[in-house]
Amino acid sequence: METKKIKRPLQGATVQKKNLGKAEGTESHGCGGHSHDHDQAGFNQKPVCKLFENEAFQEICGETMHPGGLELTEKGIALCGLKKGAKILDVGCGKGETAFFLNKEHGFDLVGIDQSEILVEQAKKAYPKLNFQMGDADYLEFPSSTFDGVLMECVLSLCDMKEEVLHECWCVLKQGGKLILSDLYLREPSKSKAMKKEESPIEVKTCMTGALIKEELLTLLEETGFIDIEWMDCSETILSFTANAIMKYGSLEKFWDEMLPEGVNKNLFCDSVCSGKPGYFLLVATKKKE
Ligand SMILES: C[S@@+](CC[C@H](N)C(=O)[O-])C[C@H]1O[C@@H](n2cnc3c(N)ncnc32)[C@H](O)[C@@H]1O
Repeated sequence: METKKIKRPLQGATVQKKNLGKAEGTESHGCGGHSHDHDQAGFNQKPVCKLFENEAFQEICGETMHPGGLELTEKGIALCGLKKGAKILDVGCGKGETAFFLNKEHGFDLVGIDQSEILVEQAKKAYPKLNFQMGDADYLEFPSSTFDGVLMECVLSLCDMKEEVLHECWCVLKQGGKLILSDLYLREPSKSKAMKKEESPIEVKTCMTGALIKEELLTLLEETGFIDIEWMDCSETILSFTANAIMKYGSLEKFWDEMLPEGVNKNLFCDSVCSGKPGYFLLVATKKKE
């Protein structure tokens, strides 16, 4: 992937960056002045979540790897009023199913990026005419104001630096462009029990362990410069994933037992995942026109 550092000045975003100063010896692309830990090839060498590369996991998920599938994607698109030919970035595109669907059904011009080399290869093989690239949500290597829409389906919860990721989306969107997000969120955050390091020394990263709190996410979006946020609870979409897993493995515990690496306390994991009452949302937000 080309590693041009693009000058991308902040264009009126009201985002208040916390501790995002440029570290010594690292380059910034100029959008918000944050630094990135890229290697010489320009790609960030942080660990990739292997769960989504697992064929057994993909089978349980079905066509796409987000609850609600393409029907939910279509709901988000319907709220955006995007025209044929619109340029869309699918961040965390996985196997490329959504990109293919949007290109075929709506005639959008799609770019799909994912941090997993295996999934990008899978997407390229399945849909060779579409544009899939390795890429990291923390640092979108596109010029500012490139896309009419940015899509992130069940990806933000996997990102540690949610504030940065949203700001990156804001930067690459054109004015008036649409951000379409769907993801897990905690419906009862006060009851959420995060696993402690001493309980499970192996860190497990899933959409559930990084699930968001509605109010925090809405505040982050507003601070980043997004307006007209339309939020929809779609928690019922989690049911079919859960049902598939139970039908195939007998129980959720057994399912996670198969999916998670050795050394993870599966009971504590399930307890921690269910404790905050995970739900699923779809939202559309707009990058304000100057
Ligand atoms: C739950 S899957 C969803 C895949 C796809 N959006 C879909 O709905 O089928 C999450 C995807 O996000 C990717 N991902 C996670 N963190 C990422 C990051 N920082 N940058 C790019 N992709 C990321 C994973 O590799 C995985 O393909």
